[in-house]
Amino acid sequence: MKVTVVGAGAVGASCAEYIAMKNFASDVVLLDIKEGYAEGKAMDLMQTASLNGFDTRITGTTGDYSQTAGSDIAVITSGIPRKPGMTREELIGINAGIVKDVSSNLIKHSPNVILIVVSNPMDTMTYLVHKSSDLPKNRIIGMGGALDSARFKYRLAEALEAPISDVDGMVIGGHSDTGMLPLTRLATRNSVPVSKFLSDERLEEVKEATKVGGATLTKLLGTSAWYAPGAAVSALVQAIACDQKKMFPCSTLLEGEYGLSDICIGAPVIIGRNGIEKVVEIELDEAEKQKLAESAEGVRKTNDLLEV
Ligand code: LAC
Repeated sequence: MKVTVVGAGAVGASCAEYIAMKNFASDVVLLDIKEGYAEGKAMDLMQTASLNGFDTRITGTTGDYSQTAGSDIAVITSGIPRKPGMTREELIGINAGIVKDVSSNLIKHSPNVILIVVSNPMDTMTYLVHKSSDLPKNRIIGMGGALDSARFKYRLAEALEAPISDVDGMVIGGHSDTGMLPLTRLATRNSVPVSKFLSDERLEEVKEATKVGGATLTKLLGTSAWYAPGAAVSALVQAIACDQKKMFPCSTLLEGEYGLSDICIGAPVIIGRNGIEKVVEIELDEAEKQKLAESAEGVRKTNDLLEV
């Protein structure tokens, strides 16, 4: 199993590290345009192998896509991250050109690759890859919901004063501060609805904290987060590599599901060896349907800025 990670910045490097630590991939290739950077990160990570007990070979390259040939999975983290006060949508101008170029290079060298898009604005970048490539929809996955759901579970556990392993929940909709839809109605603590333990007001606070999860970190760190994004990507990579058939909310091309078409937005999907193997349609109540429709409107507005 060969995995390429484009962008050896903080998200790309964390992602490579988590993949290696789980020891399921034979090769991870890190690619970056900054001279020597990916090679350096790869070497540093490889020098943790004997300490951390993994056999995954991590190599780095400065922009040489021939090194990525035959990748089963490729992760696109390249582009600029947001700075404090910026929205993900403001990154579109620069990142669209980068993502288009990176995806076409990856596909050229690995025609069977499954792409995971992380670059922001993520839903629009995922849509861009659909529009600008011939890859079937199951092989284009937008990573947002997996991360947002992890942040949701963190906030729920905090409010419940419970261990995170007791908590389950999911965030669908667009990967933006206003577009995310944390499904509090369906969230549970060991299968008991969280509304049994938390007031509507507290649940509203959890929802809001989840939605601005990335922005809160950007403010604290001065740039966008990397541990949880890296871990979320590595969970998706593992689900594909190990054919786990796990359910994650991911940005996927909808063709009528949830009443939406010609848009990539977060919805629950089954991830296995073929990438997105199924979109799962869950019953939403009227308020949730309305919120999802508004979220889709927001994503479409950003998509309209694309020149494809
Ligand atoms: C975040 C970025 C990865 O939410 O979008 O941290």
